[in-house]
Amino acid sequence: MKRLRTRADLHAWQAEREGVPRVLVPTMGALHRGHTSLFDQARDEAGKDGDVLATIFVNPVQFGPHEDFDAYPRPLEADLEKCEDRGVSAVFVPDLSEVYAGDRSIMVTENRLSTTLCGASRPGHFDGVCTVVAKLFNLTRPDAAIFGEKDYQQLAVIRRLVRDLDFPVRILAGPTVREDDGLALSSRNVYLSPEQRAGAPALFRSLREVAAAIASGAITTPGDARQGFLDRFAAAGLAHLDYFEIVDSATLEALQSFTGKVPRLIAAAFFGKTRLIDNVGLPRD
Ligand code: PAJ
Repeated sequence: MKRLRTRADLHAWQAEREGVPRVLVPTMGALHRGHTSLFDQARDEAGKDGDVLATIFVNPVQFGPHEDFDAYPRPLEADLEKCEDRGVSAVFVPDLSEVYAGDRSIMVTENRLSTTLCGASRPGHFDGVCTVVAKLFNLTRPDAAIFGEKDYQQLAVIRRLVRDLDFPVRILAGPTVREDDGLALSSRNVYLSPEQRAGAPALFRSLREVAAAIASGAITTPGDARQGFLDRFAAAGLAHLDYFEIVDSATLEALQSFTGKVPRLIAAAFFGKTRLIDNVGLPRD
């Protein structure tokens, strides 16, 4: 596995690997099974002779001023071992100055899908994501890139970025990987106290129960679904809900009715200071 620190390293590797299918998996490190499942999917996509390129970069411009940029875990050596174990071909681990010019003055802004849900709670977050992902696409020039459904809004925003700015990159989605009790794996789960950790699966459980009730016909309107979620989640105590929405799975617009729509249930909650997000579709029969 190649460890690429600079743009020059990256370009030299690309020159060696000209014409080889390349699948990109961008990450901020602190890798867990959610990330490694994307590496496996990338390997399937690239083929055994293709290249899986991971990036590890904690992108400061997607963090708000009071968010956890400084505290964000950075276990680089352990991360590189995980990449190696999963058969990643090369990892791009740039320093900040390798990615951003000190006097950078352009950001990429998505103006529709980014305004609600996490975008409403984290102003500027998706500008930071779009900007760094656009830069990573330009730097790494992949055929395809894989993003997790765990960050459902991010996935939708990146699809829009690619469509509206004509990036020649196929975007693929990886399913959410969970702990046995349903909690979605996240690099931020390490912040949870034992009590918060014990309560955290309520987020997924409440989403899943409401989705099942919609699928079975027990809940027929978005309003009843919202109430059903609020009741279930409140019963679990502990957390403070940031938002819950039932949205169109492609446009992320809030649904007024389920007729003819593919709903996605999406929520964020604070467990102490730690903000966790999760989402589900309707179960398939
Ligand atoms: P990060 O949070 O490190 O996540 C990297 C990728 O792993 C994202 O596509 C995310 O959706 C996916 N992922 C995280 N947890 C997952 C889980 N439990 N199951 C499946 N996939 C999971 O998302 C980012 O980094 C950044 O915003 C980034 C896109 C790298 C831009 O900086």
